Amino acid sequence: MQTAIDISWPINTENKPESSHSTCQAMGTGMMLSSWATSSIEEVAEAAPGGLRWLQLYVYKDREVTKSLVKRAERAGYKGIFVTVDTPFLGRRIDDVRNKFRLPPHLRLKNFSSNNLAFSSGKDFGEDSGLAVYVANAIDASINWEDIKWLRGLTSLPIVAKGILRGVVVLDARHEIRWTFYIDILPEIVEAVEGKVEVFLDGGIRKGTDILKALALGAKAVFIGRPLIWGLVYQGEEGAKEVLQMLKEEFRLAMALTGETSMFPLSNNHLCLTFCHSSHSPCARHHSNL
Ligand SMILES: Cc1cc2nc3c(=O)[nH]c(=O)nc-3n(C[C@H](O)[C@H](O)[C@H](O)COP(=O)(O)O)c2cc1C
Repeated sequence: MQTAIDISWPINTENKPESSHSTCQAMGTGMMLSSWATSSIEEVAEAAPGGLRWLQLYVYKDREVTKSLVKRAERAGYKGIFVTVDTPFLGRRIDDVRNKFRLPPHLRLKNFSSNNLAFSSGKDFGEDSGLAVYVANAIDASINWEDIKWLRGLTSLPIVAKGILRGVVVLDARHEIRWTFYIDILPEIVEAVEGKVEVFLDGGIRKGTDILKALALGAKAVFIGRPLIWGLVYQGEEGAKEVLQMLKEEFRLAMALTGETSMFPLSNNHLCLTFCHSSHSPCARHHSNL
């Protein structure tokens, strides 16, 4: 698949970064590493040096911290920065609040050296969810387009806004790549960017037909989070490969049933024709359980 970031079979996983990454490399796809991962940017690069890697970035209140993450990703051969724009605060995860969520003592956010930023057990995070306290203390809740421009000036890597929630005005059609979360708003975002930037879907992909629906609604690629983790928990690297293989096979079959030989003549019409045999039917959002 040709996109601004060159990917053949894109996925995203945040857990067990090193084995996820070698899985992704083996399956010919890319992996996005969370800046909060418990393996560092460099460790993950070393685990599968030939793999395609991107860095998920939070904009820290301390811009030097943010800058250093970007520079380390560049040096370690990462190919893009996915900046999360939809987490000014952490949602109220009630179990985490009740359990006063902390990392177990043997883990820390390896990209950071201080106990504060590494979210390590050496630091007191109070009575609340430790992660919510961490976000409130460290992450900048007020980021705006100026910060994206600042990032743009910092690196020549592609920058992807991760977590776009509605169709907004395109800032810079040459460099910005849109990112969206749920399929319901995908058509709105695709329409808003008028083909000037690429749109990816991240969230809710569970079957090959979900991938087909996302592409038909205008996404250039999809990313996968939890299914990879379920595969890893089930059977480590092999389990993760199995999840990817299943999705790939399901997608291949769904594509074959559309009658198309390439992904990008796909459109709304394919959803209607394939799934409800009516070219007048409005499309996927009314058939989300297919
Ligand atoms: C364990 C875990 C950790 C995650 N960490 C981050 C993170 O640090 N930053 C971020 O922007 N998204 C994070 N996400 C969200 C994923 O990047 C992705 O958007 C989401 O998992 C995709 O949805 P899916 O799980 O339904 O496939 C995380 C998801 C999971 C499951």
